Amino acid sequence: MDTSLRPNAYPATENARKHLLMPAEEMSKLGTEVRPLLTHGEGVYLFDESGRRYIDGPAGMWCTQIGYGRQEIAKAIADQAMKLSYNSPWYTINSPSSELAARIAEKTPGDLNRIFFTTGGSTAVDTALRFTEFYNNVLGRPEKKKIIVRKNGYHGSTQLTASCSGREGNWPNFDIANDRIKFISSPDKRHRGTRSEAAFLQDLVEEFESTIDEIGPDKVAAFLAEPLLASGGVVIPPRGYHARIKAICESHDIIYISDEVVTAFGRCGEWFASEKVFGVVPDIITFAKGLTSGYVPMGGLAISERLLARISGEAANGSYFTNGYTYTGHPVSSAAALANMDVIENDGLLEHVRKVGVYFAERLAGLATLPSIWDVRTAGLIGCVECITEPGRTFADESDKRLTGVVDRLCFERGLVVRPIANMCVLSPPLTINRQEIDEMCDILRSAIMDATTETQ
Ligand SMILES: Cc1ncc(COP(=O)(O)O)c(C=O)c1O
Repeated sequence: MDTSLRPNAYPATENARKHLLMPAEEMSKLGTEVRPLLTHGEGVYLFDESGRRYIDGPAGMWCTQIGYGRQEIAKAIADQAMKLSYNSPWYTINSPSSELAARIAEKTPGDLNRIFFTTGGSTAVDTALRFTEFYNNVLGRPEKKKIIVRKNGYHGSTQLTASCSGREGNWPNFDIANDRIKFISSPDKRHRGTRSEAAFLQDLVEEFESTIDEIGPDKVAAFLAEPLLASGGVVIPPRGYHARIKAICESHDIIYISDEVVTAFGRCGEWFASEKVFGVVPDIITFAKGLTSGYVPMGGLAISERLLARISGEAANGSYFTNGYTYTGHPVSSAAALANMDVIENDGLLEHVRKVGVYFAERLAGLATLPSIWDVRTAGLIGCVECITEPGRTFADESDKRLTGVVDRLCFERGLVVRPIANMCVLSPPLTINRQEIDEMCDILRSAIMDATTETQ
């Protein structure tokens, strides 16, 4: 550990205060408040400028699958930077990105064998959506452009992906492309009321069908959905939801895009969750985050050969897929992603998640007996604990958000970072986490919830 990393070793805090504009910046406080300064990480732990240790509950931003400080990744990055640090994807290729595409295509379901690389998750989803425009224009169907998405989903921060993100908090004071988008209900069980799961599913499917009818099937290009709504609060749909929706998409020639930016690369115990966990083979899968475990930025999408066959070769009509980024298939990011996949394989992390995920679920479920917990949900190594100040109530109000804010603060003071989303504490630790570290995480969370409940009464 580098002990030179101490408070005044850096002018980082002062520079941040003066010069950084951060995501989710509260503008009234611009230049007055600064977030905690992290200096390094080891395994599942983060360290701040005073040397304090925290378990990284959300794995950064659901991305640090293999944890911090892996020499293999640092070496792969350094070696590739010395060998070939950049090449233009407009007129050349590089070995790492070609190998990575082939390796990802082995893991994707169905015929999703062609990969386009991007700079992160937003650009992956944006590219998927632009692909659907391109596809329908080449097929001579310029009217087929509407995108159906779910309320409370999250898909990114470009204008189009932000427009597709149904979390209302994302919108105020930004313009959105709402003429292109149609929202349907989130498959969130709190909307289920007294209906059985099967009846709830049936209603969701019928809502999807009637939305298509209302717009006109010839005008609907795509359905875009996360397998589980991650930032929307780890919302797990009723069993069979995705397969039913996909069947309707097929009958209307609507492209089904599965946004696996959070769920891919082991989070749910599989390389991709769509087919193996959620029973659907999509037309396009987007991914990012766990692809490089956050060591360097990169994202991408896998596209079905069947779709591409309809608009390539003789069917291409002279078209060019002109969407692209300077850093598409970046050699250094690709080398990091290959090394990351090696670690996931060599350390048996998919099997580990399947096993340790059961323990994680048990430990979180143990919190459900606390009076201020409304619900606990888990899938693999992603989980959510929902705090409520009045037992039995399912829709959060300001007092619940206040309670969760205190839980969050107490967790941080006790050495655990959680991801607070409204009244929910979301956990998605690095996939390398062991039972002892899960115990440490859950013990801190339990004590924080109990003390926060007393403090806010
Ligand atoms: C499901 C989903 N899609 C897309 C994105 C956007 O990814 P990025 O922040 O890498 O642009 C996110 C980010 O959290 C996400 O959760």
